[in-house]
Amino acid sequence: MHFRAMVLAMSSWEHASFDLADFRAVQVRPAVREDAAVVAGVYHRGWHAAHAAALPWLAIERPPEAFAAKVPSMLQHCLVAEVCGPGVVGFAAWSGAELGQLFIEPSYTGSGLGAVILDRAEKIIRDSGIDEAFLTCVVGNHRARAFYLQHGWVDRGVEAYQAQTEKGRVPVPVWRLTKRM
Ligand SMILES: CC(C)(COP(=O)(O)OP(=O)(O)OC[C@H]1O[C@@H](n2cnc3c(N)ncnc32)[C@H](O)[C@@H]1OP(=O)(O)O)[C@@H](O)C(=O)NCCC(=O)NCCS
Repeated sequence: MHFRAMVLAMSSWEHASFDLADFRAVQVRPAVREDAAVVAGVYHRGWHAAHAAALPWLAIERPPEAFAAKVPSMLQHCLVAEVCGPGVVGFAAWSGAELGQLFIEPSYTGSGLGAVILDRAEKIIRDSGIDEAFLTCVVGNHRARAFYLQHGWVDRGVEAYQAQTEKGRVPVPVWRLTKRM
């Protein structure tokens, strides 16, 4: 099901009207410590939805606890998207010039929420004085790559990300994308 959000900004709130007879308020705000568990859940489900088919051997080594362990250190530079009712359904986290994570709850992908959070995260990165941001996207995650290209990111080619596994570090091909901030 494809939802298309039309976003109207009003102070720190974004109101998204969907093609359904549905109207939801979306708030994008900095993450707080209390968001850790729900962010970890979105991260776990979003990561598996996007990567399990391309990386089944890695997916079996990525249980919910693996995401819960990573999240606390990400929260300092993290925005969450909250909708009325379900609460937090997406987040973006970055470190310096790297946009490290952008994940939407699988039942909310295609809603345009990704663009709302991406736009806000890019603004914060730009305001911090970064001229060019970068991110990596697992080769095979065509939907995410197309999404970033649509939002002005440029594909700089394939490189290897060293994934930590039980057998040590294993290279995973990723696309590197950059964007002038
Ligand atoms: C990539 C992501 C952040 C984009 O956010 P989003 O809110 O879904 O963005 P959009 O609504 O603009 O949708 C992006 C595209 O995916 C398509 N899409 C979304 N959900 C889909 C689905 N279930 N099946 C097929 N296509 C889908 C949309 O149609 C859209 O394509 P279009 O622009 O040609 O219409 C989000 O889909 C996501 O979290 N994906 C899983 C995690 C991931 O891959 N993160 C990035 C890691 S690098």
